[in-house]
Amino acid sequence: MEQKPTLKNTEKVIEIKELYKSFGNYHVLKGVDLDLYKGENLVVLGKSGTGKSVLIKILVGLLTPGSGEVKVLNQHVDQISYKELLALRLKVGFSFQNSALYDSMTVRQNLEFPLVRNQRKLTKAEVNLAVEEMLDAVGLLQTINQMPSELSGGQRKRIGIARTLILRPEIMLYDEPTAGLDPITCLEINSLINQVQERFHTSSIVITHDLTCAKAVGNRVAMLLDGQFQRIGTFEEVFNTTDERVKPFYDYNFIQ
Ligand SMILES: Nc1ncnc2c1ncn2[C@@H]1O[C@H](COP(=O)(O)OP(=O)(O)O)[C@@H](O)[C@H]1O
Ligand SMILES: [Mg+2]
Repeated sequence: MEQKPTLKNTEKVIEIKELYKSFGNYHVLKGVDLDLYKGENLVVLGKSGTGKSVLIKILVGLLTPGSGEVKVLNQHVDQISYKELLALRLKVGFSFQNSALYDSMTVRQNLEFPLVRNQRKLTKAEVNLAVEEMLDAVGLLQTINQMPSELSGGQRKRIGIARTLILRPEIMLYDEPTAGLDPITCLEINSLINQVQERFHTSSIVITHDLTCAKAVGNRVAMLLDGQFQRIGTFEEVFNTTDERVKPFYDYNFIQ
C-alpha cells in the first residue's frame, strides 16, 4: 500500500499545547502537544485506556482540560461561552465510538434530524436535496427509505458518517471508525474517509487500532504513549524505531 504524503499546509485548525487531564489521582494526559493542519488526516494510535477518546471529548468541550491550551478553529474551547461552543460544535463533526443511528427512524429521517434541528431556515426541498446528495456521496442513496436494522454494520457506519457530514463540518473526528467491522468493510470505510477528505476538504483526526487503516488514511500518524504523543510523523517514521513500546503494536497488527 502506498504511503500517503505529509501535506505542506501550515495553517493549523487544532492546536494543543501542554494539555493535562486527570480523573482523581489518575493522570491520563500528561503534557500533550498536537497540531492538526488544514486538510490533513491525522491518525491517533494508542493502547486502550490511554486517553484517545478523552482527548477528542476535550476538543469539542464535552470534557474540560485540566491545564494547558486547546484551540479549535482559533478558539480556546475552555474559554468561550456555551453559545460559542455550540456554534463551534457545528463546525466539528464527531463520529463517536459506538455512536448509533436512531433505530426508529428511516435513513432519510436520520440524516434530516441534524439539519432540521440546526438549520431551521431550510425549505423541505433543500433538506431533501441535502440528504440525497450526502447519501449519494457515501454511496448509499438506495437505502434512503430503509430502517437502520435492515443495514449491514458497514452501511450503518457510512450512514453515521453521512449524518455527521451533512452539517458540512470543517473538522471531522472519527473515534475508531472501523472497530468491530470485518476486514473488507474496514477497507470501504478507509476509502470513504479518504473520499471525505478530498471531496469536502475536511481536516480530520482518526483514532484507530487498525494499522491498515492508519496507513491508508493518515497523512501523519501520532502515537499516544504514557500520556504524551511520543512518536509523530509518517507511518514509516513512527514505526521505524527500536522503542519497545511501539513494536508490539506493529506485531499485533501484521503478524498475528
Ligand atoms: N468521564 C470520566 N470519568 C472518569 N474516568 C474517565 C472518564 N472518561 C475516561 N476516563 C478514564 O480515562 C482513561 C482513558 O479513557 P479513554 O480516553 O476512553 O481511552 P481510549 O484511549 O481507549 O479511548 C480510562 O482509564 C478511562 O477509564
Ligand atoms: Mg476510546
